[in-house]
Amino acid sequence: MAWLRACCYDLALSNTEARCLSAWRAELLKDARGVILDVGAGTGLNLRHVPKTDTRLILTEPDVDMRARLTRRAAQERPDAEVLDAPAEALPLPDASVDVVVCTLVLCSVPKQAPALAELRRVLRPGGRLVFLEHVAAEDGSALLRWQRRIEPLWWHIAERCALTRHTDQALLDAGFTLETLRREPMRGGVPWVSPTIRGVARPR
Ligand SMILES: C[S@@+](CC[C@H](N)C(=O)[O-])C[C@H]1O[C@@H](n2cnc3c(N)ncnc32)[C@H](O)[C@@H]1O
Repeated sequence: MAWLRACCYDLALSNTEARCLSAWRAELLKDARGVILDVGAGTGLNLRHVPKTDTRLILTEPDVDMRARLTRRAAQERPDAEVLDAPAEALPLPDASVDVVVCTLVLCSVPKQAPALAELRRVLRPGGRLVFLEHVAAEDGSALLRWQRRIEPLWWHIAERCALTRHTDQALLDAGFTLETLRREPMRGGVPWVSPTIRGVARPR
């Protein structure tokens, strides 16, 4: 199943990428400089948006099938990038060694958000930032949230342990980040239960 997901991932996202995700990735990454860490980098859909000048790019991906695709894409688009086999909760990087952590569509998949966010905070330099783009729980009391709750157990299996009802903005605050920018916008071109998204920039407090 994991192999199949890795195979189909780019195709499954292609409509959404064209309708919004690609533009959001570009906007979030355009000013990234220094040491950039893309956690749970998947098949490398952020690669073409990371500036090539004044950047050192580290990509982590714990899933073997995703990582194989990531390694191939990085070899073509960003041959100097380092690809590491590591989960967000245990990064093989020193404290305060990263300028920009990139987290796109990953905090729905980590087993628990708090240990992952603590680790991202650990590797960020003072003044560093976390750029994020995540699908989240719909508004409290909404029909969509009720649907997300109904579908979540099935989706968890279909989409490789992807949670639908996480309050990721609150998790960022609880993990000691401040939200410098936060934008909520429905993701277009995908299934409705993943449409509520947040994106922005967080900094360690
Ligand atoms: C929906 S994909 C997103 C991929 C990519 N970041 C993107 O924006 O297209 C979720 C990714 O998170 C990865 N992942 C799952 N658990 C993880 C963990 N504990 N730490 C880091 N990445 C994880 C998965 O292997 C998968 O590649």
